[in-house]
Amino acid sequence: MKKEEPIEKIDFDEYADVYDKVMEEDLKFFGEENTYFAEYKVKIVQDLIKVNPDKILEYGCGIGRNIKFFKTYFPSSDIEGCDISQKSIDLAKKENPNINFYLINDEFINSNLNKYNLIFISCVFHHISPELRNDVIKNINKLLKPKGSLFIFEHNPYNPVTLKIVKDCIWDKDAILLKPKETKKLIRTGNLNEVNFNYTLFFPSQLKKLRFLEKYLKGIPLGGQYFIQAEKV
Ligand SMILES: C[S@@+](CC[C@H](N)C(=O)[O-])C[C@H]1O[C@@H](n2cnc3c(N)ncnc32)[C@H](O)[C@@H]1O
Repeated sequence: MKKEEPIEKIDFDEYADVYDKVMEEDLKFFGEENTYFAEYKVKIVQDLIKVNPDKILEYGCGIGRNIKFFKTYFPSSDIEGCDISQKSIDLAKKENPNINFYLINDEFINSNLNKYNLIFISCVFHHISPELRNDVIKNINKLLKPKGSLFIFEHNPYNPVTLKIVKDCIWDKDAILLKPKETKKLIRTGNLNEVNFNYTLFFPSQLKKLRFLEKYLKGIPLGGQYFIQAEKV
């Protein structure tokens, strides 16, 4: 029997400079700027969060594509970003000079305990090998304030278009997609309570007028991604 090669972890330092350009190419058939999906997700958070969060963290913020929309939709919040890719953080900082960005390490976690009212993590867990995911969710719990909210967005492994995008994307070679039940389990391991689970990103920008229908489709596993909103106990 052929021995399986271990999957090599992608180092996003190698892709930071071309990240935007590659996203643009990969998503071009959706017809609008690649920032459409970033804004879409931040808008979902804004629609669901009840109290304006004082402190927001994007965990695994990459080059900061979502950060600029957090600034737009949460103008009075203190917004920060963190990642394990120093080069991505450097680019994020260049684009957003007024925002604090941190490299994730023990010092960052231990000096920011119980700090954030809202943590957003998008398309990161599928790049973390399954045996390390529990440690990451536990760290996220440490960073959240009691009653703080977490939003996890992940690719929907049941959507064939999503699977094709992942298969063709140069930095998704280490991607191991999470079924919703795995992400829900992760939430429980992190001692967080699930508040909402929705499939999302059903409509490309050409059909954005239909977006109001999403609330009726949220249980149908056809959206490009899904998200879980959770709360720290
Ligand atoms: C596909 S990019 C997504 C970036 C950003 N969240 C977005 O939505 O545009 C994945 C990011 O996850 C980061 N990442 C990978 N493993 C991580 C880990 N263990 N902890 C935090 N971030 C990680 C990578 O460095 C990269 O910036």
